[in-house]
Amino acid sequence: MTTILVLNGPNLNLLGQREPGQYGSRTLEDIVSDMREFAAACGLQLEHVQSNSEGALVDAVHEAGRQGVGYIILNPAGYTHTSIALRDALLAVEIPFIEVHLSAVSAREPFRQVSYFADIALGVISGFRGEGYLLALQAIINRIDPERE
Ligand code: DQA
Repeated sequence: MTTILVLNGPNLNLLGQREPGQYGSRTLEDIVSDMREFAAACGLQLEHVQSNSEGALVDAVHEAGRQGVGYIILNPAGYTHTSIALRDALLAVEIPFIEVHLSAVSAREPFRQVSYFADIALGVISGFRGEGYLLALQAIINRIDPERE
């Protein structure tokens, strides 16, 4: 059974109350619960890690490598624009991943338009609020079983 790790960076634990105009009104628990339901219906195992700490995110990527995780759905949040360490961890484990952003980062401040992940991701989904995570999951399902596409 393929395992998918959903990895969320800093401040995403505050979804629902944090800048709802940018990030929507759904909580992280709401979003992950929808993903779990979708994954289970497709026979996939879903793990979720959220951390506000860069080192913990790097450790989660290393652990995913050890556990044989098939794909990662990653919202590095603020670390998108800064973290060479997290980028290097993803390159080290060679797990294919999709970068997700709730907000439309390309329509925001210039510093948000720089991503340390986009060029090594399978693809980037941005601007669809919580639905973006489900779109990423659908894209992975399509890759695992192209018959479904
Ligand atoms: C974000 C966009 C980042 O620029 C920001 O720092 C976040 C969330 C998003 O999902 O839109 O924390 O990754």
